[in-house]
Amino acid sequence: MSKIQIAGIGLGALIALGIACNKDNPNGQYEANSLKLPSQPYNYQLPVMTEAGFALSDNPTNPITDNGATLGRVLFYDKKLSLNNLVSCASCHKQENGFADPVALSAGFEGKKTVRNAMAFTNPTSDKVYFWDTRAGSLEDLSLQPVRNHIEMGMEDMDKLADKLKKIDYYAPLFEKAYGSNEITKERIAGSMAQFLRSIVTYRAKFDEGKKSNFANFTESEKRGKELFFNDLHCGNCHGGVNFNGIDGKAGKETFNIGLDENYADNGVGALNSNTNFNGAFKTPTLRNVALTAPYMHDGRFQNLEQVVEHYNSQMRNHPNLFPRFRTFSRVSQGGVIEPGGYGGGGGGNSDPNSAPPRGLNMSMTEKADLIAFLKTLTDTKMLAEAKYANPFSN
Ligand code: HEC
Ligand code: HEC
Repeated sequence: MSKIQIAGIGLGALIALGIACNKDNPNGQYEANSLKLPSQPYNYQLPVMTEAGFALSDNPTNPITDNGATLGRVLFYDKKLSLNNLVSCASCHKQENGFADPVALSAGFEGKKTVRNAMAFTNPTSDKVYFWDTRAGSLEDLSLQPVRNHIEMGMEDMDKLADKLKKIDYYAPLFEKAYGSNEITKERIAGSMAQFLRSIVTYRAKFDEGKKSNFANFTESEKRGKELFFNDLHCGNCHGGVNFNGIDGKAGKETFNIGLDENYADNGVGALNSNTNFNGAFKTPTLRNVALTAPYMHDGRFQNLEQVVEHYNSQMRNHPNLFPRFRTFSRVSQGGVIEPGGYGGGGGGNSDPNSAPPRGLNMSMTEKADLIAFLKTLTDTKMLAEAKYANPFSN
């Protein structure tokens, strides 16, 4: 059975449930007893310096409070945020999948499909921009966009959302605790949701543990994969830093065309800023928890990591905006040199960075397996099981 059919049946069941709920609550009142929160809120404060040796910083204009993030958690999991009470943020961002969705395109409001693959989020506080085309500049700015989006949650008027939440009995006390008064506004909704998102941190993957012992916990294959990733193949030059999606203060800020197509159906950043030089450029995605976030790329075209690696190895297309180094690149182990501050490579003879066809990586079967073994060390099972990020509703 195809994934689309499974999604269709799942949706049918949800619709049946929605109808049953409406019958039980003819006045739009919802039972609070399906919501279970701890009597003392969980601790959502960011570790200033993680055990893995990198810092995570809060937003000083909207600092995380335990009650604020608790409210954000409830909002994140509440289907009442959608126009038809059937879709929550978590419908497409599943904790067990690193907050990604295991389908290429997600089913949103009225079952319509999203135009892009739902993104994983890991340490979103470290990123500078959000969404595949980088159109949101902060988590506060991002938070209400999915709710308003006619495909995702369909709730176009944010004042109506605030009015709707006022009628749901469990919200007044949650806003009271978070903000000192039970007033419900769109700013408070966005602010508390942003606090919850910012509180989602991951720094306890096998890779992080390994940094403490010079990777004594790694298998030989994982060690070779790490070497390939950071040195020989230069994956880490784009997938660097805390989230493996940027370098230094640029996490998630850099966008690239990696030659998925000769003509992109979705031009990403180019479509947003109407600059053809950015056609086919997308945000470099995080690789934390990547083993659990399939399918991959902005349109979810690749089912598994083998297909992703084969893309870089031999399948890159000659798009005019292809990252130039992919045309001249040569592996360090195969005669290339690392250029200071650059993506590395060199050794490209007289090939032209503007027009030469893309070069593959020329990897052996063992090297491909080693690289994938390394990518799997980025899974943080502790974060995936963390109760404070889980669904607080029992149905
Ligand atoms: C119907 C599916 C769906 C729902 C519901 C949904 N999202 Fe998303 N989310 C997506 C898709 C698809 C993207 C990528 C969109 C794009 O880039 O154009 C995304 C991207 C994101 C990102 C960007 C991560 C990054 O690294 O840039 C965050 C954060 C996010 N969503 C949070 C939320 C929140 C909060 C809610 C609820 C208010 C929500 N989403 C509801 C599908 C969904
Ligand atoms: C020039 C920068 C750059 C380099 C070098 C690079 N990547 Fe990427 N990577 C990206 C971008 C940008 C995307 C998203 C492209 C898209 O969806 O259109 C991506 C996507 C991915 C994804 C999919 C993640 C997801 O959640 O969808 C994986 C896995 C990945 N890269 C692994 C690698 C590996 C392994 C290497 C080294 C062989 C590598 N990348 C080299 C920029 C780069």
